[in-house]
Amino acid sequence: MLDNVNLADIQSRQWPQEVLEDVWGFLSEAFHKETTVLNTRISPENLKNLYVRGLSIVKFLHDEMVGHICAWPVADGFFEVGSVWVRPDLRTHGVGNSLFEEIKELAQLNNGIVFNITISPYALKAGARVDFNLHQDWAYPVPWHLTCAPCDLLPEKEKHSCPKRNISCWLRVMQHDKPRNK
Ligand SMILES: CC(C)(COP(=O)(O)OP(=O)(O)OC[C@H]1O[C@@H](n2cnc3c(N)ncnc32)[C@H](O)[C@@H]1OP(=O)(O)O)[C@@H](O)C(=O)NCCC(=O)NCCS
Repeated sequence: MLDNVNLADIQSRQWPQEVLEDVWGFLSEAFHKETTVLNTRISPENLKNLYVRGLSIVKFLHDEMVGHICAWPVADGFFEVGSVWVRPDLRTHGVGNSLFEEIKELAQLNNGIVFNITISPYALKAGARVDFNLHQDWAYPVPWHLTCAPCDLLPEKEKHSCPKRNISCWLRVMQHDKPRNK
């Protein structure tokens, strides 16, 4: 439902634009209610840290946070785009698409391998619009320890025969528009 909400009032913020301290706790709690988000790293401290490093984009409706996306610097030269969230009552109106469009523009990502793993068909659609291409090899160029290993949906010993891989859990690698300097 979109009672009394003008979508044009939803604005993006990026570092160094100010964000009040309490939003990170709010966002962390919101993530914990979602079943499609990896829960191991979304502490308020980690989320704030990414923001001040210029690695996340947040959406505000007036003073309320209503959307988030970030690029986790998971290893030297590798960024995992994820922790995507839109406030439930505002979903299906294009906010998720615009989060993916905006994260793609982050200059810091230009020289890295940028990937995304999702079990959300909606995140899958939004990522496809910005050249996140499906990738069926979960060990190269993004190494296994960055793809399946961190997953908290299955115990370690079951991961190599995970029935979800490429069926209901997707790895995508972003194709860069500009040539990389590596
Ligand atoms: C994934 C998420 C961020 C998408 O946000 P959103 O604002 O609803 O996204 P959009 O409205 O831009 O929709 C993106 C695409 O998914 C489709 N979509 C979104 N919700 C849908 C629904 N309930 N039913 C059918 N299609 C849907 C849209 O039609 C759109 O596709 P299109 O561009 O081809 O038309 C949101 O659902 C969410 O926060 N989910 C919970 C957390 C999560 O799963 N995060 C992803 C982890 S990687």
